[in-house]
Amino acid sequence: MAAKVKDPARPSLPVRIVVTREEAERAVALEIAELVRTKPRTVLGLATGSTPIGVYRELVRLHREEALDFSRAITFNLDEYLGLVSGHPSSFGRWMRSNFFDAVNVPEVNIHTLDGSLELARARVECERYEQTIADAGGIDLMMLGIGRNGHIGFNEPGAARDTRTRCVELHPWTRADAAHGFGGLEQVPHVAITMGVTTILDSRRLCVMAFGEHKAQIVKRTLEGAIGPDVPSTYLREHSNVCLWLDRSAASG
Ligand code: GLP
Repeated sequence: MAAKVKDPARPSLPVRIVVTREEAERAVALEIAELVRTKPRTVLGLATGSTPIGVYRELVRLHREEALDFSRAITFNLDEYLGLVSGHPSSFGRWMRSNFFDAVNVPEVNIHTLDGSLELARARVECERYEQTIADAGGIDLMMLGIGRNGHIGFNEPGAARDTRTRCVELHPWTRADAAHGFGGLEQVPHVAITMGVTTILDSRRLCVMAFGEHKAQIVKRTLEGAIGPDVPSTYLREHSNVCLWLDRSAASG
């Protein structure tokens, strides 16, 4: 069999494989902590889901035990379901409160989340305002990201173009299925969402991407080796010049 030749038209993504996900969570948390210490007015892009939860846990510990100070940090959340009542228990906004914001000292005025209770027309206006607010803050210094089983980043589902910005999107069936548990059944899961776009994400100065578990192995393989394009939005990450993909052994097994 011919040896695999590295194709310059298919840029690669720096990968770190660790034995346990806790090592990756700690490393990403330490990188964020270091950034916040050297640049207190750090602008962070924040993801939700099962992937980053340990990073938040570690950041909360660093805040409590090592006085990590978020008093000048600015945050922007990546995405939100649309069509939820304000404060819905399954909203990402609520998730962020209970897993991070309620336990650290990011000032309320510096916290930016997308409002899932808006009706579509208002949400579209909100998307433009969100982009402007990110720009006014000086852009995102570091963005934390997970990868969906279908290759979504944020809610940039298969089909998302490289030049997209914050907008309303329809959710992919796999995404809704994966969310069903949190909503108490598939029929309760919204069909639409609001998400930062691919360009919004790639404009961040640093990307810390994580994928853990065997159920992510196939999409990790496609992210690293597949053609870059809308079929698998996570492949766009290979176009970023300052990115690291953290994998545990199971996610790396493909
Ligand atoms: C969710 C979010 C993404 C997240 C992804 C993976 O639906 N929109 O931001 O990265 O899907 O989720 P998980 O980390 O739970 O596997």
